[in-house]
Amino acid sequence: MDPFQTVAREMKFLTGNIRSLLGSGHPTLDTVAKYYTQSEGKYVRPMLVLLMSRATALTPKIARAGCGSNSVDAPITSSSTLSDDNPDASISHIAHDTAYTSADSDILPSQRRLAEITELIHTASLLHDDVIDHSVARRSAPSANIEFGNKMAVLAGDFLLGRASVALARLRDPEVTELLATVIANLVEGEFMQLKNTARDEKNPVWTEDTVTYYLQKTYLKSASLISKSCRAAAVLGGSTPEVVEASYQYGKNLGMAFQLVDDMLDYTISSEELGKPGGADLELGLATAPLLFAWKDNKTLGKLVGRKFGEKGDAQKAREIVLASTGLQQTRVLAQDYVDKAIEAISPFPDSDAKNGLIEMCTKVLRRRK
Ligand code: FPP
Ligand code: MG
Ligand code: MG
Repeated sequence: MDPFQTVAREMKFLTGNIRSLLGSGHPTLDTVAKYYTQSEGKYVRPMLVLLMSRATALTPKIARAGCGSNSVDAPITSSSTLSDDNPDASISHIAHDTAYTSADSDILPSQRRLAEITELIHTASLLHDDVIDHSVARRSAPSANIEFGNKMAVLAGDFLLGRASVALARLRDPEVTELLATVIANLVEGEFMQLKNTARDEKNPVWTEDTVTYYLQKTYLKSASLISKSCRAAAVLGGSTPEVVEASYQYGKNLGMAFQLVDDMLDYTISSEELGKPGGADLELGLATAPLLFAWKDNKTLGKLVGRKFGEKGDAQKAREIVLASTGLQQTRVLAQDYVDKAIEAISPFPDSDAKNGLIEMCTKVLRRRK
């Protein structure tokens, strides 16, 4: 079963609603902010939020004051925090989108909005990431930093975070606000950890188990935090019991880890054309990811190259050859499979449903994906 079909109706409105959230009276900002919405992304995060919302609709609930009574659907009046005479007025359209008119759906309006918020935060991180990584392409088109320059790309990312924060505040759920605000901090923490390949910045680092632990913690912060905490937030908004909330989080955490491990494999195995962004970028950026860390365990000559971030002529090529000749890629796949198994295990107590099957199918898709 295609997980997309399970939430196809909700997904249909996603891009339009995200674009509504990003309207600005400043025409250039409007263009830059909406730039990555022109090319269809994979929408992994919103799809997971919608599937989790639907799958947890059938699980036990707590009596929860205010559950489902947030202001996401409320018409925005002149007493709103956003006045009508400034460029922000365009955000008021979000309250009337057709996606939110179906009262009979088991997915709450707040959960649909959460799906959009996760994509906004993700896209903001990509705008910043492409500046940091000096990227030239994203989603088979020039990246925003190339098209508009670093300054506008960074500012547009900030704007997305601002609009995501407004939409989050309107959910009127402090726990969910805290979860998603923590994600933004986690993304930055992960990116800071990535500035170093190992916990201690040494010229000739020695491989230890801590090397992998450091990489996995960075991977959680950089990638799995958004997926895990947004799955958790979906269950919180649905008024699920603490057990279900925790299971949703565990599913997202493990799937998120697998997602990034596969991402790190694809950087070695798939061409730039197929990826829609530069392949082989990690070594060029000085990054030692899972395939290399596993190869390093068996081939200690890599330590020196890791220490100088593959910065000397021929380093990246040499490291690539060692990784490709090693079992690093297979070991990475095995680890990704372990995480996926844990993700599926986490939601095994949920009652059977198409949405639960969709969540399981997402695991298979993550392992099989080529971009
Ligand atoms: C893509 O990774 C980037 C991320 C998963 C997160 C980047 C986070 C930041 C730049 C911190 C700032 C965040 C916000 C929300 C302001 P990648 O470079 O490995 O993947 P790629 O090949 O898709 O570029
Ligand atoms: Mg990047
Ligand atoms: Mg990056």
